[in-house]
Amino acid sequence: MSDLIIRSYEHADQDGVVELWHRCSLVVPWNDPVKDIEAKLKIQSELFLVGIYDGKIVASAMVGYDGHRGWINYLAVDPDFQRKGFGRRIMEKAEDELRKLGCPKINVQIRTSNIDASAFYQSIGYKHDDVISMGKRLDP
Ligand SMILES: CC(C)(COP(=O)(O)OP(=O)(O)OC[C@H]1O[C@@H](n2cnc3c(N)ncnc32)[C@H](O)[C@@H]1OP(=O)(O)O)[C@@H](O)C(=O)NCCC(=O)NCCS
Repeated sequence: MSDLIIRSYEHADQDGVVELWHRCSLVVPWNDPVKDIEAKLKIQSELFLVGIYDGKIVASAMVGYDGHRGWINYLAVDPDFQRKGFGRRIMEKAEDELRKLGCPKINVQIRTSNIDASAFYQSIGYKHDDVISMGKRLDP
């Protein structure tokens, strides 16, 4: 029986990862997925995790540590493979890697409309922080 293999992203994964993100509706007009991958490969590339099942990329988590907090972006599990524990597994790996780096806390940003992701994160132990999330674009 196959099992989920979680490892760092490799160059040959690009098409599979971009397809996964499209299938999970994570590709938005203001973010180019290929540029986002290339940028991540320059910083803590080993923390860009993918999950492989039966040779197919079915999960991803773009993990980072800024020296104070850990961050997760592009958490995705292929819709055909959701609710099988793969999201929990890739997050456990992300948490292990961040813990090894001495990271004391992980922050995640979830769109308020993304009820499923909120339910997922709550079920794996994340709590609502009483903060307002703000952002400012630095690119033109
Ligand atoms: C969020 C996501 C990664 C969860 O992945 P997953 O592999 O389905 O999650 P798991 O199977 O590990 O779920 C673990 C637990 O989370 C909770 N959970 C997961 N999905 C849920 C949902 N849609 N509704 C309610 N609870 C959910 C459940 O408690 C689940 O345990 P159970 O299946 O035994 O009930 C996946 O739904 C996804 O890729 N969504 C689209 C992309 C996205 O929104 N990413 C997050 C951006 S912030």
